[in-house]
Amino acid sequence: HARLRGVVALDGPSGTGKSTVSRKLASALGASYLDTGAMYRAVTLAVLRAQVGPSDEAEVVRVVCGVELTMGTDPERPSVLLDGEDVGQEIRGPEVTAAVSAVSAVAAVRELLVAHQRELIGRALAEPGGIVVEGRDIGTVVVPDAGLKVYLTASAEARAQRRTAQDISEGRAGDLDRTHADVQRRDALDSGRTVAPLRKADDALELDTTDLDVAGVLEQLHKHVESRGLLT
Ligand code: DC
Repeated sequence: HARLRGVVALDGPSGTGKSTVSRKLASALGASYLDTGAMYRAVTLAVLRAQVGPSDEAEVVRVVCGVELTMGTDPERPSVLLDGEDVGQEIRGPEVTAAVSAVSAVAAVRELLVAHQRELIGRALAEPGGIVVEGRDIGTVVVPDAGLKVYLTASAEARAQRRTAQDISEGRAGDLDRTHADVQRRDALDSGRTVAPLRKADDALELDTTDLDVAGVLEQLHKHVESRGLLT
């Protein structure tokens, strides 16, 4: 089977199907997978547990500097350990979701996590198979020379519906109206922040997934990976 070489950067707002297609793409291409949103979520959980207000920057930085984050990059079973504890479930809960935009807007937090992300990417690239990295600033900041950059979009309605379906299928309460409001609130915060705002890199391909299913998005991604000569 063909394997990926180099980095595929997938950015875009929440609910575009980014995580699902990133994992499937990585699996199909024998690549590693890094969910950078999970890293921001995990440090946000640490901040909440320390009972620090997400907007108290100095305290947020103190907490984030003191935690150990261990990311498992196998797309079949990605994992997030916070000081050795598996927090993969807890970081998807509403408390973390409500606070993560504020924590991820702190410049020093981003510096720490971007450095960690580059280290993980470098480690993956030292082994056979490339890496699929998803987030908000992968193509613009973390890996500006990625072999392929894709910016996924979808209407806010479609994204809220997907997030709600995902919540229900993973055993959480699903609330479409609340999720729709949350999607729009986070879009505004993530796009409006001064440090590394959510935006499409100039050389990223934009892919609107509103009317595409997962297979349709994957088909597009495979086509672009191949046409860029990123297969070995
Ligand atoms: O992809 P997600 O919903 O799990 O991401 C959670 C939050 O983390 C999102 O609201 C913005 C932030 N984030 C970020 O600022 N930069 C990234 N590269 C990834 C996520």
